[in-house]
Amino acid sequence: MRYSFITELAAPGRKVPVRACDPESAPVWLFASIGEYPVYDDVAYEVMIKDERRMSRYAEAVRRYAPGRTVLDIGTGKDAVWALAAARAGARHVWAVEVIPKSARIARETIEEAGFADRITVVEGLSTEIELPEPVEMCVSEIIGTLGGSEGAGSVLRDARKRLVKPGGVFIPHRSVTTAVALDLGSAGRGEPLGFPPFVFRYVEEVFASVGRPFDLRVVLEGLQDNPKVRERSYLSGPVEVEPLEFNGDLDPEGIDGAELTFTAEGEFSGLALGVRLWVAEDDEPIDSLVQSSSWTPVYAPLAEEGLPVRPGDRFTFDFTTTISDDGVHPDYALTGELHRAGVPAVTLSWSSTHHGDGFRATPFYRSLFPGPGGP
Ligand SMILES: C[S@@+](CC[C@H](N)C(=O)[O-])C[C@H]1O[C@@H](n2cnc3c(N)ncnc32)[C@H](O)[C@@H]1O
Repeated sequence: MRYSFITELAAPGRKVPVRACDPESAPVWLFASIGEYPVYDDVAYEVMIKDERRMSRYAEAVRRYAPGRTVLDIGTGKDAVWALAAARAGARHVWAVEVIPKSARIARETIEEAGFADRITVVEGLSTEIELPEPVEMCVSEIIGTLGGSEGAGSVLRDARKRLVKPGGVFIPHRSVTTAVALDLGSAGRGEPLGFPPFVFRYVEEVFASVGRPFDLRVVLEGLQDNPKVRERSYLSGPVEVEPLEFNGDLDPEGIDGAELTFTAEGEFSGLALGVRLWVAEDDEPIDSLVQSSSWTPVYAPLAEEGLPVRPGDRFTFDFTTTISDDGVHPDYALTGELHRAGVPAVTLSWSSTHHGDGFRATPFYRSLFPGPGGP
């Protein structure tokens, strides 16, 4: 059975051919990683509000730390959930910052309706560009990306620590890491090339519009994290951690992290599934997007279009590099590694994913996703 078909979507100034799929019949399908662009809509906010694990961990941490403190809520969103939770828990005053004007306006209305306009001040703008009358005692934010730092948490919260939060102030969340497992994409998708369901097109179009051109945007795999059968047939290794971000400690948003994956299953190694582990409070069990149903979905990092045969005991060693892009906030990611298999020369494999794009249809994976006139 074929799940995918070719159609078109809109990019600035032109139409772009795209591979689409029917999510009802495709075992896994693609979405755009959208959190790093100002394209949040009601649906995106609702997915986060319905993520019970995320909501309960944050609610508990806010209830624990907000009483009696002054609070900064970075990225309050249209529902101002953590600003309201902090005020209800007894925060002395909350500054709720939101960069999307429509979301800031709705947040202000929601706060007025809830009767907290005297205790919560909504500030429209980027936290990195605002000033507060005085530094606060606690900062809550949920700007954790599909890769831990991809929404700019590292740079944004380092700036907040320097300018907006008192020394010793509490940060929620506590820490995040990006995680990686080796993936057999052919097994996950039952051999069919992956595509976007048509309802995803408008998000891809908005990401292209916000960057000003089509590019090989970061994609996430739907149908993987919450389906043990799909995970079992497609995850070829246990997870490793890279990109550690210590929000209550030494916070360095850039770096090179070395890691080694050991294959535990036989299969065709095509790339990595990259996820996030998030400790909302220090003593929490982390939220783990590679193995739990979550509003964070695993990113696909393609490495070898024709999956490379691997066996248990083979290894993939790699360096994972995070560099802040020229917008000063969002990271560009790159990964280079060597696949070591018994009796076969080592193979060098690499992947890169920039925030605002330096190539379109640059690799076989993206030529299949955005087929050109000459075909994939
Ligand atoms: C993932 S949503 C979280 C919304 C809400 N806080 C929640 O947890 O449900 C992130 C929000 O942060 C906003 N945002 C991201 N970075 C920001 C920054 N540096 N300053 C202000 N708003 C920011 C986005 O526009 C978006 O509304």
